[in-house]
Amino acid sequence: MDAVTKRYPDGTTAVDRLTLEIPDGSITVLVGPSGCGKTTTLRMINRMVEPTEGRVLLDGRDIREAPVNALRRSMGYVIQHAGLFPHRTVVDNIATVPRLNGADKRAARRRALELMERVGLDAAFAKRYPYQLSGGQQQRVGVARALAADPPVLLMDEPFSAVDPIVRKGLQDELLRIQADLGKTVVFVTHDIDEAIKLGDMVAVLREGGRLAQYAPPAQLLSAPADEFVEDFLGVDRGIRHLSFFGTDTLELTTEPIVTEDATAEQFGAAAVPETPYVLVTDAAGRPRGWADAAVRASGPLDGPDGELLPYGHAFTVGRDSLRAALDSAVLSPTGWAVAVDEEGRAVGVVAQESIAAAIRGAHRAGVLR
Ligand SMILES: Nc1ncnc2c1ncn2[C@@H]1O[C@H](COP(=O)(O)OP(=O)(O)O)[C@@H](O)[C@H]1O
Ligand SMILES: [Mg+2]
Repeated sequence: MDAVTKRYPDGTTAVDRLTLEIPDGSITVLVGPSGCGKTTTLRMINRMVEPTEGRVLLDGRDIREAPVNALRRSMGYVIQHAGLFPHRTVVDNIATVPRLNGADKRAARRRALELMERVGLDAAFAKRYPYQLSGGQQQRVGVARALAADPPVLLMDEPFSAVDPIVRKGLQDELLRIQADLGKTVVFVTHDIDEAIKLGDMVAVLREGGRLAQYAPPAQLLSAPADEFVEDFLGVDRGIRHLSFFGTDTLELTTEPIVTEDATAEQFGAAAVPETPYVLVTDAAGRPRGWADAAVRASGPLDGPDGELLPYGHAFTVGRDSLRAALDSAVLSPTGWAVAVDEEGRAVGVVAQESIAAAIRGAHRAGVLR
């Protein structure tokens, strides 16, 4: 987008000299408060809205040079509430696009069923009508329909805003999974900064009046907000959220204070470390059960299978989970120690809050966290 401005006939400046280079094959998120020009910007990409000034270029060519129908065929479009045809079944909703592109009925149907699988919809839904689906399922049909013509570009306008947080998380994860397979150029609009940070390879923060406040990868947005507006918009816990971009593979884990539940009193005594009075008790398979007071256990057997185990909160998976998850795990643990597990859920070590804090200080020294 090259210095694009949109003024509506009533004088509203919805978008003000917006210049934005959207990289292909990745997800670019436009985020900002309601009324800041996100939808207008998105619609100028497929010419549902024409700019007052400036140019929109696709692969270096002004989009006004190509016929508008060809342009729109190269761009899938997903909106809030999915915008499905109410009188057509799920399979027919999706098959509409391949049919328009000249596919015969059977091929279009086959393609539709393929896409249902891709977006995580059971084939049993094929014959249903939109009103017979939940909001989340309708949204999946909307995504399938947008993908039906296999367009290189996908425009998504608050597609997940109307569903509850759990369904939304599922849809976001599904989009990331599909994107990892298909590598579309996605332009995604949302007012939810958490959604922007989760989904975006690049995030454009817009402010009232359709002006660009900052354009950056999410980690950079969190570490170096351009101004007070962006900082406010990111919220008070941006430091903590920034930690979700740091891995846990360099954390110093210790296995010393870990014992299995059938350990003897002597073994409990031997497992204790000076830094904490607690040891982590696991089951025979190595899965964490809870924390025990090493001195109490060392003084003799306890009644009941659970003894006096303190809950460990939740574990984090080394390598997969972020420093944020590790810190959260330590914060929730009454002992102040986080439990690290492998992909199979077996305890591979424990780590003190202090060690996680040291890792955070390390990130500061390296200049990657500000
Ligand atoms: N057709 C229109 N005519 C006049 N003003 C409009 C029209 N569409 C949107 N606007 C105004 O333009 C601004 C940006 O709108 P929009 O792009 O829908 O914002 P967002 O999607 O970020 O909520 C708002 O002030 C809105 O009221
Ligand atoms: Mg909008």
